[in-house]
Amino acid sequence: MKDLRLCIMGFGAVGQGLAKVVLLKKENIKELYGVELKIVSVADSSTSAISTDGLDEEELIRVKKETGKLANYPEYGSNISGLDVLDECEYDVLLEATPTNIVDAEPARSLTLKAFEQGKDVVTSNKGHLALNFNELLDAALKNNVIFKFEASVGGTMPIINLAQETLPANNVESIVGILNGTTNYILSRMTSEGTSYENTLKESQQLGIAETDPTQDVEGIDAACKTVILANSVLGIPAKYDDVKVKGISDITSEAIYLADKEGYLIKLIAEVSKDNLEVSPRLVKKGSAFDINGTLNMATVTTDLSGKVTVRGIGAGSVETAAAMLTDLIHIIREKYKV
Ligand code: HSE
Repeated sequence: MKDLRLCIMGFGAVGQGLAKVVLLKKENIKELYGVELKIVSVADSSTSAISTDGLDEEELIRVKKETGKLANYPEYGSNISGLDVLDECEYDVLLEATPTNIVDAEPARSLTLKAFEQGKDVVTSNKGHLALNFNELLDAALKNNVIFKFEASVGGTMPIINLAQETLPANNVESIVGILNGTTNYILSRMTSEGTSYENTLKESQQLGIAETDPTQDVEGIDAACKTVILANSVLGIPAKYDDVKVKGISDITSEAIYLADKEGYLIKLIAEVSKDNLEVSPRLVKKGSAFDINGTLNMATVTTDLSGKVTVRGIGAGSVETAAAMLTDLIHIIREKYKV
């Protein structure tokens, strides 16, 4: 039996979701692939817990929830943080779940590049470094001969990148149009169904742990624009940058506009369009009952291909365990490719 040693960077909603899904699935993974998942290091923004023997998933979550700091993990808590955590103990795969930073992509960019230099595979849910440094990261992974997977960065648990790359590789993808932000979809659908105010629904989505650390990224369309850049690069092969995306968020959408649209049989949704002619995130009117008519934190995407026509997917676009499940799926891809016994 081989140990697969995991380092988790970032221990907010997604990081804690990872601890939960590892706990839930490790027996299954052991049986299927002969690999024993072991979390050897976990870091929050300023502290960590590190043990080569492996950390207890439930204890990690309890310590973080009750004390706010992993430094309080019994015996193995420490004040080591950031890049230093990667030097502190041997690991095989970095699971990177720090908050998205669309200004300079840190700390995700440096953590990822350092892990690559150490010869480690990386799975991420982060969007900032992919949106700002896509080619740099892909080139570095290639140069260091490691695997870099980022399904969880777009659409939460909804399959989209792996779907296009691994399930539909016979096709050229011509465009992707969809709803790629769970928080704004939650806000807009609650405003439509309950008539709730914009401010209250935004607070609710923060309590649910689906909004970004800085929720402006959701409501101003920044999060969906990052995902547009990631899909453009990874699925359509367009070397797009964040600044190439036309972005408009939902903060100007009033309850009255929603009511008027509703009366005419329409909904207002934040739509992302990815094609070689248009990279855009903006609120649009969509028909009730169409594929865009989805509620709550769901995301959806219609992938238009040259050979297979249109393929539409939908799934939960944000959330702790759901996003972590997409990361575990990427980890299983790595296990199948490199570690299966
Ligand atoms: N804040 C994001 C959303 C999380 O609401 O979709 C998932 O990327």
